[in-house]
Amino acid sequence: MSIFKGEKLVVEIYGTSHAQKIGAKASGFPRLKIDEENLKNLLKRRSPSSSVFSTKRKEPDEPIFEKGVNNGVIDGDFEVVIYNKDVKSSDYNELYARPRPSHADLVRYFRSGEKDYRGGGEFSARMTAPLCAVGALCKQYLFENYGVEILAYLSSVGKVDGASYKTHSICKEEIKACHQGFPSLTNGEKMIEEISKAQSDGDSVGGVVECVAFNVPKGVGGSLFEGLEGKISNLVYAIPAVKGIEFGDGFDLSKMLGSVANDPIRLENGKIVVEKNSAGGINGGISNGNPLTMRVGFRPTPSISKEQRTVDVEKMENVNIKIKGRHDSCVAVRAVPIVECAVAIALLDCILKEKN
Ligand SMILES: Cc1cc2nc3c(=O)[nH]c(=O)nc-3n(C[C@H](O)[C@H](O)[C@H](O)COP(=O)(O)O)c2cc1C
Repeated sequence: MSIFKGEKLVVEIYGTSHAQKIGAKASGFPRLKIDEENLKNLLKRRSPSSSVFSTKRKEPDEPIFEKGVNNGVIDGDFEVVIYNKDVKSSDYNELYARPRPSHADLVRYFRSGEKDYRGGGEFSARMTAPLCAVGALCKQYLFENYGVEILAYLSSVGKVDGASYKTHSICKEEIKACHQGFPSLTNGEKMIEEISKAQSDGDSVGGVVECVAFNVPKGVGGSLFEGLEGKISNLVYAIPAVKGIEFGDGFDLSKMLGSVANDPIRLENGKIVVEKNSAGGINGGISNGNPLTMRVGFRPTPSISKEQRTVDVEKMENVNIKIKGRHDSCVAVRAVPIVECAVAIALLDCILKEKN
C-alpha cells in the first residue's frame, strides 16, 4: 500500500503484481461524471498490448468502481479495482533468492527479508494501472473545468532523438495524433529499430518522455515546499524506472548566460505574456501562464536475458543469472500515458487548493 497525501486529494494504491487484484482508493475528489470511453482509452494506451516491445502479459485492465459511484458520478471518495487476470509466477522460480540487478528485489530483501521476487510485488509497473485510472479522471476534470490538456510523447529512445520542445514548439494536435500509434512525433521507426536491436541482444534501452500541460491557469503553486516543480516531481517519481526530471530547459539552463536563459515579459494586446518558455511555465514554483514543459528520464528495463552478476541471498554466494519471463524492452514507451496521469494528479491537487 502506498499513499499520496495531497492538499485536497488523497490517493491510496494497493495490491501487488501477482495478487488477485490491485486498486486505488481516492478521497477529496470533486464531482465528476465519468467519461468511460476516455478512461478506457487511457488504460489501453498504458496496457502491454499498446506495444510489441512490451511484456507479453495480457491484462484487460478493466476498471471496476466498487465504491463511491452513483449513476456514473463520483463526488468525494471512491474506490476503483482492477483484477489481475494473467499471473504467471512460474517465470520467476529461478529468481528465488536471486535479486535482479537494479530492480527493487535487493532493497525488498534489505527491508523485509523477502526472497520471493515474483512479479516485483508492489514495485511492479502493474501498480501504475490504478494510478492511471485515478489520473485519467483528474485529466478529464482538468480539461472539462479548466481547459487544461496534459499530453506526453516519447522524445528519445536510447541514443535516438525524436522531437523535443527544446528545439521547436509542439502543438496539441501533433501529440494527440501520435497517440494513435507509436507515441513519438518523429523518428518513430528509428526508435523501434533501437528497441528491436536491444531486445534481440537480450538487452533493454531507456528513453525520455516529454510532457506538456497546456492552458494551466496562471498563479497555481507556491513558494518553497508548495512549488509546482516539487509537487509534480513527487508524483512523477512514483513511476517505476524514473531516474530524472527537468522542467523547461532544465539542466541546459546551467550552461546559459542570464541574458539567454531569461524569458522576457511583454504586453501583447493589453495582456502580460512571458515571451519564451525556458523556465517551463514555472517561476518561483508558480505557473506563469505558459505551457508547463518537462522531460522525464527512464532507465533501461532492469530485467534482461543477458547474463548478469548477483548474489544468492539464501546460500550467500555469488551467482550469475539470465532473466526469463515477460518483460518490456523499453519501459518509456508504455510510460507516456503514466506520466500524463502523474502530472494530472499533482496539478489537480494544486488547483483544488487554490479554489478553497
Ligand atoms: C510501464 C513500465 C513497465 C515496466 N516493465 C518492467 C519489466 O517488464 N521488467 C522490469 O524488470 N522492470 C520493468 N519496469 C521497471 C521496474 O518496475 C523498476 O525499474 C523497478 O521497480 C525498480 O525501480 P527504479 O527503477 O525506480 O529504481 C517497468 C516500468 C514501467 C514504468
